[in-house]
Amino acid sequence: MVNKITVVGAGNVGATAAQRVAEKELARTVVMVDVAEGIPQGKALDQWQSAPIEGFDSRVIGTNVYDETADSDVVIITAGIARKPGMSRDDLLNTNAGIVRSVSQEIAKSSPEAIVIVVSNPLDVMCYVAKEATGFPRERVIGMAGVLDTARYRAFLAEAIDVSVEDIQAMVLGGHGDTMVPLVSYTTVSGIPITQLLAQDKLDAIVDRARNGGAEIVKHLKSGSAYYAPSAGAVQMAEAIVKDKKRILPCSAWLEGEYGMSGLYLGVPVKLGRRGMEQIIEVTLTADERAALEKSADAVREPMKVVAR
Ligand code: NAI
Ligand code: 2OP
Repeated sequence: MVNKITVVGAGNVGATAAQRVAEKELARTVVMVDVAEGIPQGKALDQWQSAPIEGFDSRVIGTNVYDETADSDVVIITAGIARKPGMSRDDLLNTNAGIVRSVSQEIAKSSPEAIVIVVSNPLDVMCYVAKEATGFPRERVIGMAGVLDTARYRAFLAEAIDVSVEDIQAMVLGGHGDTMVPLVSYTTVSGIPITQLLAQDKLDAIVDRARNGGAEIVKHLKSGSAYYAPSAGAVQMAEAIVKDKKRILPCSAWLEGEYGMSGLYLGVPVKLGRRGMEQIIEVTLTADERAALEKSADAVREPMKVVAR
């Protein structure tokens, strides 16, 4: 357990993440900060009142200012606007860049040693904005998307072959968008290559569904986007950091030569521990996977130009 975890944005993803952090007792104090007056306070009070039932002692606090977030160990940024039907993640670019820049500046002032997990979209570009605005080293600014995209892929695979989700090992790399790269060559069911258990056409359909997993939910919800699995993804990363678990998870990390690329955030296998992003693991890719990863990097570089200062 650490002393304090702050969640910026008390909307669907942020509030659900705060509740999960509290239920797992990852921090003594969980702070939700949002510009909407009363919302973080009301939600935090409601969450704290669930403590006697759920049996957690993490205190949950809601606020509109950063004083109470001071000296947070981990900060999860979920502030911003979410997708509506027909909107791509990149449609959120300019609005969310302004929001993420301003909240990152506040975090740098109030919690200069924090490890920041970015969730706001478009994810890989918002990680870049947060890194620039905080001035933090790359080890302390990491993006959550690969955990979510991989969870979707694993869930669909488990359903298709009728096995436990726990036995599906997989990794989705690349940017958090339509160009994401599910690594079929590393997908196994308790070590059995997935290609031995599922016909190629079914596998292709699942890869496609995972790529469009976010849009499928937006279409159902009509207003807003997914938040149960996204908040679970962010909290899994926070847990790996807080407990120094050295978990290998697909996260958006700032590349400095890894995978032959530099100067952008992209989803890659990362070791997460108490120092944040402790290592980027470089795995061998098939020619198709490498080409797909490069295409995905191009899709991140384009919107990055819009926010580069
Ligand atoms: P939401 O609309 O429910 O919540 C966003 C919250 O941010 C609102 O409460 C709003 O008042 C707050 N906010 C706006 N400006 C702020 C500021 N300057 N400071 C503090 N709070 C501010 O949206 P939701 O569903 O929680 O999604 C949040 C973000 O996460 C969106 O950008 C969404 O696209 C993204 N997302 C990313 C995922 C990923 O895999 N990386 C998955 C799901 C969502
Ligand atoms: C998702 O993948 C909208 O990025 C969000 O659900």
